Amino acid sequence: MKVFRTLKKYLWRYKWYFVAGFFMLLLVDGFQLVIPRITKAAIDALSYGTADSALLMKYAGFILLLATGVGGTRFFWRYWIIGASRKIEFDLRNRFYYTLLSQSVGYFNKTKVGDLMALATNDLDAVRMMAGIAIVASFDAFFMLTASLVMLALLNWKLTIWVLIPAPFLSLIIMKFGKQLHDRFEQVQASFASLTDKAQETYSGIRVIKAYVQEVPEFADFRVRNRDYMDKNMRLVKIWGMFDPLIGFVIGICFGLVLLLGGDRVILAKMSMGDFVAFSAYLGIAIWPMIAIGWITNLYQRGKASMGRLNVVFEQTPEIREIEKPVVLDPLKGDIEFKNLDFSYDEDAEPVLKNISLKIPAGNTVAIVGRTGSGKSTLLKIMLRLFDVPDGTLFIDGHDIRTLALEPFRRQVGMVPQETFLFSETVIENIKFGAPDATDDDAIRCAKIAQIYDNVIEFPEGFSTMVGERGVSLSGGQKQRIAIARALLMKPKLLILDDAFSAVDTETEEKILQGLAEFMADTTNIIVSHRISTVKNADKIFVIDDGYIAEEGTHDELLELGGIYADIDRRQKLEKMLND
Ligand SMILES: Nc1ncnc2c1ncn2[C@@H]1O[C@H](COP(=O)(O)OP(=O)(O)O)[C@@H](O)[C@H]1O
Ligand SMILES: [Mg+2]
Repeated sequence: MKVFRTLKKYLWRYKWYFVAGFFMLLLVDGFQLVIPRITKAAIDALSYGTADSALLMKYAGFILLLATGVGGTRFFWRYWIIGASRKIEFDLRNRFYYTLLSQSVGYFNKTKVGDLMALATNDLDAVRMMAGIAIVASFDAFFMLTASLVMLALLNWKLTIWVLIPAPFLSLIIMKFGKQLHDRFEQVQASFASLTDKAQETYSGIRVIKAYVQEVPEFADFRVRNRDYMDKNMRLVKIWGMFDPLIGFVIGICFGLVLLLGGDRVILAKMSMGDFVAFSAYLGIAIWPMIAIGWITNLYQRGKASMGRLNVVFEQTPEIREIEKPVVLDPLKGDIEFKNLDFSYDEDAEPVLKNISLKIPAGNTVAIVGRTGSGKSTLLKIMLRLFDVPDGTLFIDGHDIRTLALEPFRRQVGMVPQETFLFSETVIENIKFGAPDATDDDAIRCAKIAQIYDNVIEFPEGFSTMVGERGVSLSGGQKQRIAIARALLMKPKLLILDDAFSAVDTETEEKILQGLAEFMADTTNIIVSHRISTVKNADKIFVIDDGYIAEEGTHDELLELGGIYADIDRRQKLEKMLND
């Protein structure tokens, strides 16, 4: 069973819990099997008139003792085996999270959050049930069925055969319904994933929904999905609903047969009253395993399907991997070269970057300008190897980027992405995100360079103010400046700013750039911007257009050239004049 390979390791890890649990379970079963025997002896003594109060006292005492034993041992098997299944769930959940964390960025572009949530909730639950209660139940069912059948046969084997005639129908019902139950359960899960997807998107997009007055249509969409979820659940319930009465019907036939045939034997004095009562009791015990088989089949099928889905994630290898003996660049110089690079996000898609060749010498500050969608952000992302490029097209300090050790390399790069992301933590924790060991003084110094210090000290709790959902709402420009401070604190050898000033006013931007010029004098800086004022002092400016490098040179050279750059410059000057 390939699906269960993953699980085997964990079952083995907690084997002693299972061994101890099974031992306790055997005790419970043993006690339970003895109780009808005592009842039988008591009833026989009563009907033959040999019973006195001392004897009854003794029997009652036994039963009480056994019942106590059943209670105590039941606690322990549950504690150990259910406990082990919870531990397995814990391990699997950690592994699930860690596997996701190790995936490349591309993986999350392709995977829906709702699907991942369903895996982490429903599927993990199903596996836990299988690893715990289903294993116990199959062990228990097998043992109890065998033992109670032996007991029944010992009491009256002919009657045993009679009452067992309806039993195959139990299995038949279960087999027929098991598949249906399983299929419908799958549909319920799929529907739930779509529902959570919707809810999540609503919560994160609530501002847009409000601004565009889309509450009603959003709710309508949610209702449709919620109704689908309910309908799917109702279909499941319908099957469950038919399942129980059918089982009850077959069980009723079994007991009817005992009453009819066994009662006859009692009347004819072929069977004692005690035997009759004990027989009924053992039949009761034998029925549960037969039902359990169906139930176990279900748990097992669900667990198997869920385990299969989880395995897909577990076996997912990150797209971006290091080579056998990667080159450790420590320290990184910051020399970058692109050689005839073509890049596309999807193999069959049109390339986003085409025939890019450029050199950025260590310590230089270069700027990249170009229209939205021309490929600027993509160019920066591949420099961090968030996506893979063809061999021999991108070199860092003279080494192909695909041969580098990723962690030490990325640690020396400070990247402020175009979409700023802050965590629901304090301001200082957000600044220290990439360098948790940095001192507060250092963090504050970086905040000053990023021109966010004056804002932060006006927050209710200064640098300890929470940001995000649980704290202050920051403006786009404030977020961007915190993100810049975060990148600076890493003391990067290569600083990449992807349109990091888009929400910052020109005056503040000027100050930040001045601070950077000092603080980042020795590092390689790459600045993407759509503002000429931001880029004009760069050592070199590259103009990207539709994935190509259209122009390159210094500010003056590009103005001289009279191309795209000169055109942008002219328009921005005009805008400024109109605004002033
Ligand atoms: N993760 C992605 N998957 C597929 N295509 C993408 C992805 N990110 C960007 N693109 C596409 O690549 C092109 C360049 O985008 P981008 O590099 O973000 O441009 P810019 O930063 O210059 O605005 C666009 O056509 C965009 O749709
Ligand atoms: Mg961009």
